[in-house]
Amino acid sequence: MAENTLTITDNRTSKTYTVPVENGTIRAMDLRQIKTGPEDFGLMTYDPAFLNTASCQSSITFIDGDKGILRYRGYPIEVLAEHCTFLEVAYLLLFGELPTEKELKQWVYDITHHTMLHETTKKFMEGFRYSAHPMSMFVSTIAALSSVYPEAKQVHDPANRMHQIVRLIGKVPSIAAMSYRHNVGFPYVYPDNDLSYTENFMNMLWKMVEPKYVAQPAIARALDILFILHADHEQNCSTNAMRSVGSSQTDPYLAVASAASALAGPLHGGANEEVLKMLDEIGSKEKVWEYMKKVKDGHGKLMGFGHRIYKNYDPRAKIIKWSAEQVFEVTGRNPKLEIALELERIALQDDYFVKRKLYPNVDFYSGIMYQAMGFRPEMFTVLFAIPRTAGWLSQWQELIADPEQKIARPRQIYTGHDVREFVPIEKRSAVTV
Ligand code: ACO
Repeated sequence: MAENTLTITDNRTSKTYTVPVENGTIRAMDLRQIKTGPEDFGLMTYDPAFLNTASCQSSITFIDGDKGILRYRGYPIEVLAEHCTFLEVAYLLLFGELPTEKELKQWVYDITHHTMLHETTKKFMEGFRYSAHPMSMFVSTIAALSSVYPEAKQVHDPANRMHQIVRLIGKVPSIAAMSYRHNVGFPYVYPDNDLSYTENFMNMLWKMVEPKYVAQPAIARALDILFILHADHEQNCSTNAMRSVGSSQTDPYLAVASAASALAGPLHGGANEEVLKMLDEIGSKEKVWEYMKKVKDGHGKLMGFGHRIYKNYDPRAKIIKWSAEQVFEVTGRNPKLEIALELERIALQDDYFVKRKLYPNVDFYSGIMYQAMGFRPEMFTVLFAIPRTAGWLSQWQELIADPEQKIARPRQIYTGHDVREFVPIEKRSAVTV
């Protein structure tokens, strides 16, 4: 018998089946042949929240959650954060290789020359209520771009796809910055093509009356590093949304808007905003014990802790902690850092957290750093969405090119009624909720 196989005995029928094992995986469809009789649909697996199901084959990002390893296209995240710019990393994710000097120059030029928004898109954004959350504005405006670029529907045309990808990566900082300026009531700032990707984003966020915005280099570099760390993370909730929505061959603007919507939730990209709220609620280092007790008693979660994949220190959190020190040298130390460090110190020794392998994740320190850099908490998830757009689009490209992929459509286990007699309205009883 071949070594890379799995033999299954169905105790209902005493029949034995042999299925191939490839990359430590069996194909779910190989189970369908396991039936109790001709009327039986065949065996399925039940896996709510995809705890043990691979939905695709991917060569983009590798994570070893037990060892705390993260690599993009084979390159360790630490090396990329030290040596690259965000746009270089976006290129790597999309094309599979780091760009040569010439390729990078062209790539930066292309992205830089797609940062402008159509004036009607600007007007669309002006229609939001003054208090609109920047993430809602971000999601809706990305979706609205689908109406500006109807040709984006040609998802099987590689050149067209690449055109939309360049547009999206170029425009997400502009949309993010305009969402922020709208929220604070400042006039929108147009992009400045002399500046780098992150400097230009800072320009669109914070330029006031000065003729030319000059970014603080340490902050611009730290933001670029944060963008690198957030660029991709394999099949997380929002990437799964991107792939699932993209599988219906919808255009990339609508698919990115869906992915960004998934990111907005407090269990995903919204966690960094929640961390700040939690640190505010704790208030001081002395109150950390009390708060931890509440969490252990089942009242809420320690935001910024725990991860579906990492059962070790999130490598991104390590880099952020280091990078935060460089930022604090310029901005002064964020007083919340003391509370965060104390939370981490206690959690890493506490039985509850140790047993469940709960370590700080990327969101634990990023919020403190963003705040020190001058960002308001409502912007944190938007800051996550900008670089993750490059990851979503890389995963989308991979999806479209994968001949095995079809429209995503999970199965269910139906637990409802069998066929019932219709009840006329006068004979129905009220539903008790
Ligand atoms: N604080 C306290 N307890 C926690 C935490 C936490 N942050 N995270 C998990 N646990 C506990 C759970 O209550 C559960 O305990 P139990 O076994 O006694 O029931 C156990 O640890 C396992 O947790 P699950 O919820 O089953 O883990 P899952 O993989 O489904 O969830 C998640 C992962 C959503 C990230 C979770 O850890 C969490 O909610 N963390 C806080 C929110 C957060 O920081 N999210 C950002 C994640 S990173 C990102 O998306 C970029």
